[in-house]
Amino acid sequence: MSNSPLLDELSLRALTGLRQTPKRLPSMYFYDDEGSRLFQRIMCLPGYYLTEAEREILAHQWPKLLDAFTPDGRPFELIELGSGDGSKTLELCAAFDKTGVDFSYVPVDISPHALGSLLRAFDQRLPGLRVQARTGDYFSGWRQPGNGQRQIVMFMGSNLGNMPLDEARAFLNQIRSHMQEGDGLLLGLDLMKNPHTLLAAYNDPEGVTAAFNLNLLRRLNRELGMNFKLDRFSHYACYSPLDGTARSFLVSLDKQTVRSTRVDLQFQFEPGETIYTEQSQKYSPAMIRQLAQDSGFAPKLHLQDGQGRYCVSFWQAIKPEMVRHMVPNASQA
Ligand SMILES: C[S@@+](CC[C@H](N)C(=O)[O-])C[C@H]1O[C@@H](n2cnc3c(N)ncnc32)[C@H](O)[C@@H]1O
Repeated sequence: MSNSPLLDELSLRALTGLRQTPKRLPSMYFYDDEGSRLFQRIMCLPGYYLTEAEREILAHQWPKLLDAFTPDGRPFELIELGSGDGSKTLELCAAFDKTGVDFSYVPVDISPHALGSLLRAFDQRLPGLRVQARTGDYFSGWRQPGNGQRQIVMFMGSNLGNMPLDEARAFLNQIRSHMQEGDGLLLGLDLMKNPHTLLAAYNDPEGVTAAFNLNLLRRLNRELGMNFKLDRFSHYACYSPLDGTARSFLVSLDKQTVRSTRVDLQFQFEPGETIYTEQSQKYSPAMIRQLAQDSGFAPKLHLQDGQGRYCVSFWQAIKPEMVRHMVPNASQA
């Protein structure tokens, strides 16, 4: 790969992953325009309960969130990392807006397609709201708001679950390092539950998740001049109750060699060999408390949907020395 100085970081990560054993691809690579469109379809699938559950919590319990975000009614800035098309957040912002509270919204996403959909929807529904979209990586261009306003960072859709626990802990610490004491973090997190329900969310009979997964190969073909034959790979998803993780793979159906015209590389696949494409961690309430404590936050609210499938958790950034004094479970709502 040293002969390709012009490869962007994401392409380099994809190629590095394909050279590993077992092979893997970064889940961030999913979200080209077609990937974002397919994810919008996944969110509407009957088996993909995560979106509906998160929407229900936000729609019914937003007054508790608003109270936690601004107990004194002062203006605040809502920053959403990996906002996607923002359809759930639009409902939340519309509910806040009706109360007359002063806030602004900063959606951040690597997908211009997703942000385009978001901006159109917000402009139509809430033309008066200050929205400043940022296209790019989660932390690019992060700045403190003027007037000492409180920042509330949102990371929804169980996005955190796409990271192994160690990486999630490091990521939460990175978020904390950008925040001031008293700022807030709102997380949408999928809970451990019946493995059948979980598996169905990643293995829909409609085949949309399979198309989403295979689209990774289409993107590699287009952007890196590779010659993956999509019909020679299939989608495979599994869930292990032992570690609470759903995993997605692409399985090679034959012995085959894939080449890139853009870089001087080729990749051999044995029949049945996999590419690990995504993990989706599920959490217990105890794991959520521990993650908060490990990353400099005090958990303040733990809201669940009516069926107890999913949780929206609100944490407050606290002084590092306070973390040592936190009593486990004490701040659990
Ligand atoms: C699973 S979707 C969730 C979207 C939204 N949060 C929701 O709940 O519907 C993940 C989103 O994160 C974005 N994303 C993934 N990795 C990112 C990164 N490193 N920086 C910025 N956005 C990222 C993707 O483009 C995608 O829109």
